[in-house]
Amino acid sequence: MVPLRLAAAVGLGLLLGGCAAEDEGDPILPPKDAAAPPRLARPLGAAVSARPAREDRDYLRAFASNFTSMTPENEMKWAIVHPDRDRYAFGEADALVDLGRGLGKRVRGHTLVWDLQLPKWVSERDWEAPELRRVLVDHVKTVASHFRGRVAQWDVVNEPFLPSGRLKKNVFSRVLGPGYIALAFRAARSADPRAKLFLNENYSEHPGPKQDALVRLAASLRRRGVPLDGVGLQSHTTAESAPGAARLARTMRRFARLGLDVEITELDVALARGASLGPQARAYGAAARACAAEPRCTGLTVWGVTDRWSWIGADKRPLPLDGRGRPKPALGALKDAF
Ligand code: XIL
Repeated sequence: MVPLRLAAAVGLGLLLGGCAAEDEGDPILPPKDAAAPPRLARPLGAAVSARPAREDRDYLRAFASNFTSMTPENEMKWAIVHPDRDRYAFGEADALVDLGRGLGKRVRGHTLVWDLQLPKWVSERDWEAPELRRVLVDHVKTVASHFRGRVAQWDVVNEPFLPSGRLKKNVFSRVLGPGYIALAFRAARSADPRAKLFLNENYSEHPGPKQDALVRLAASLRRRGVPLDGVGLQSHTTAESAPGAARLARTMRRFARLGLDVEITELDVALARGASLGPQARAYGAAARACAAEPRCTGLTVWGVTDRWSWIGADKRPLPLDGRGRPKPALGALKDAF
């Protein structure tokens, strides 16, 4: 697969007279100077983006040397893999998955059904239910089949709830009702029977209506035999408001008791200007200790690799490696707990 794609890309690059090495969909070569990643009790992941992986050696080296799991940060989202109704574009996602697997990392798929990063051809059309149902099932099956055998887990449905615990009114719930969630899980299972299927949600780490709604939905899916394997807790937080280990452990238990796996899927801990790194390290350590103490916790992923490329801004210094990929105290706290 790779050599063929590489040959095609180089060929095209030569034809166009450009430099093919950095083109979309080209392989991302593993760094030569990476250290062996640590041996840990649970997968420790990072969200990885193709652009910095191609452009920034510190970023790629930091990922390869410190983490054992990868989540493509954007490249599997609907707008990117399925930009037009009759066109799928897997180039950048394939490049990341091949990189991750080549480095021996576990790969999490993110995400099949979400109301954001959704192309206009889906979000802005006045759908009849049967047609949107076909589109949803076709999307989920095509993407999950494409990566079958290469991704260990899927975030099948992402962020279905409002803070109040009511379901968001997105194109899927408006046209198909709440049943769109079960539909997506069933389609994913039929396309990739081995991948673990997750429901992923934000701001559900703390007790409250959203956490309660997520527990109720997970319980009801299980009861009805919908193929749900786990719940992902995103955990975008700040050093001041990060949940402690005990609170996180209680949250994880609620899902584990339903017979589900649970995973911290998108951890980052923003810092105020000038704040010291100690509280951030404690927040990372608490999350990792809670995961390590919960038998059903299958891993922890941080949302980005180095501060320089973080989605919430380098100035917030939210990640366990600094802008140049040097370890911060938070990285030690993660590794100690795992
Ligand atoms: C973010 C990416 O990190 C950004 O690069 C992108 O511009 C927007 O999406 N919850 C999720 C992730 O499930 O997919 C989001 O990722 C962050 C919030």
